[in-house]
Amino acid sequence: MNSTAYVEKHQKRFINELIELLKIPSISADSKYKADMQTAAEKVCEHLKNAGCEHTKIYPTKGHPVVYGHKIIDEKLPTVLVYGHYDVQPPDPIDLWDSPPFEPVIKKTDIHPDGAIFARGACDDKGQMFMHVKALELMMAENALPCNVKFMIEGEEEVGSEHLEAFINEHNEMLANDVILISDTGMISKDHPSITTGLRGLSYVEVEVTGPNRDLHSGLYGGAVANPINILTQMIASLQDENNHITIPGFYDNVEELSQEERDKMAEAPFDLELYKKSIGIGDVHGEEGYVTNERNSIRPTLDVNGIWGGYIGEGAKTVIPSKAYAKISMRLVPHQDWKEITELFQKHFESIAPKSVSVKVKPHHGGQGYVTPIDGIEYQAADKAFQDIFGKPAIPLRSGGSIPIVSLFENAFNSKTILMGFGLDSDAIHSPNEHFGIWNFLKGIETIPHFYKHFAALKE
Ligand code: BES
Ligand code: MN
Ligand code: MN
Repeated sequence: MNSTAYVEKHQKRFINELIELLKIPSISADSKYKADMQTAAEKVCEHLKNAGCEHTKIYPTKGHPVVYGHKIIDEKLPTVLVYGHYDVQPPDPIDLWDSPPFEPVIKKTDIHPDGAIFARGACDDKGQMFMHVKALELMMAENALPCNVKFMIEGEEEVGSEHLEAFINEHNEMLANDVILISDTGMISKDHPSITTGLRGLSYVEVEVTGPNRDLHSGLYGGAVANPINILTQMIASLQDENNHITIPGFYDNVEELSQEERDKMAEAPFDLELYKKSIGIGDVHGEEGYVTNERNSIRPTLDVNGIWGGYIGEGAKTVIPSKAYAKISMRLVPHQDWKEITELFQKHFESIAPKSVSVKVKPHHGGQGYVTPIDGIEYQAADKAFQDIFGKPAIPLRSGGSIPIVSLFENAFNSKTILMGFGLDSDAIHSPNEHFGIWNFLKGIETIPHFYKHFAALKE
């Protein structure tokens, strides 16, 4: 098998096919795009079929459909289950895009001198998911598929994979596998291939603080009645102490403290603090005392306000003490912190710190467990060897700060490990305006993936 030559020969078509897929606004969060979700699922299904899958099928769920397809060459051989998602984040704020989010364009950037495709979903996750479809096409064409492969591409990842757990339980046998392979994370840089060994969990809540039973004149009542926005901001501020440690009782109980050895190893990963600050336009970093940036954003839990509102926000000034104030708060969790337990701890604490002058409601949204995978298994080794083949150097294990909640459920459901082979860069602006995916990264992914299959099948023997 010569994956490099095949990719070289077919790259134009691969890029054009991805561009067509990116034109479909498959926004899972917004019901206006329900028909586009179906269109995207059909397109993915068609691509799976063309790449060589048999038994391709679109499974409706209570939410958005799941696309499935497989190629079984021999029941006795191991099976790789590829997971990805065809849904994308809403493109908002739309004014900040330099080109429309669903009209993909190729532009050169400093980091991507060969060009990058700019579109919502380019990197997260259509582009990365599509690498796997093209890798299958390649292996079929080169007669080099060494084991069985199954694809499960979902449409609800960006909204919490609400119906996927039921789906994997219902179709447990159909989805049975020896390893799960995902490209929905990143790499340190183009010179530093990496394998994501950890993901954070998530607890997401919305809070509502109610003061007086109606909006009041802030002159007549001001000073004598609690302002729910003032109170809410004070309550939020109290959730972190002067060392940026979270103050919710019990919050850190199950947080794993990494050994100094492990922390030293993490610190070896290349990282430039000045460049980091410059890339996002900040004067200084901020975070939990006693931890460096790359620890704060991966092995430590967080609490962040994602949105806050209430009162008058229209043009000009209106003198008012609002009746209500709201905030959306997320907590990124580390392995062993249970998201349901943390949600309860938050709720109890938040209610307990509210003064009598207001009432509070905590509404839990979605969540999920974190994940960490060992680097001494054959799954990791196979991925590491694949990177060696194509990049000429071993991969760096990387604990990521992002979340893919379904990953920890996979381990329970299938009793198999997940390998996260990411090809995106932090600068690709996933979830942000001007999301893009480097053409070099896209093609390198397609080249590298077949080598994972080759090594995994060999190591499994
Ligand atoms: N692909 C991302 C997660 C990710 C990105 C992990 C980069 C590691 C590196 C995924 O699509 C995502 O955005 N997940 C959400 C969680 C979900 C419950 C909405 C997240 O992390 O916010
Ligand atoms: Mn994703
Ligand atoms: Mn995402």
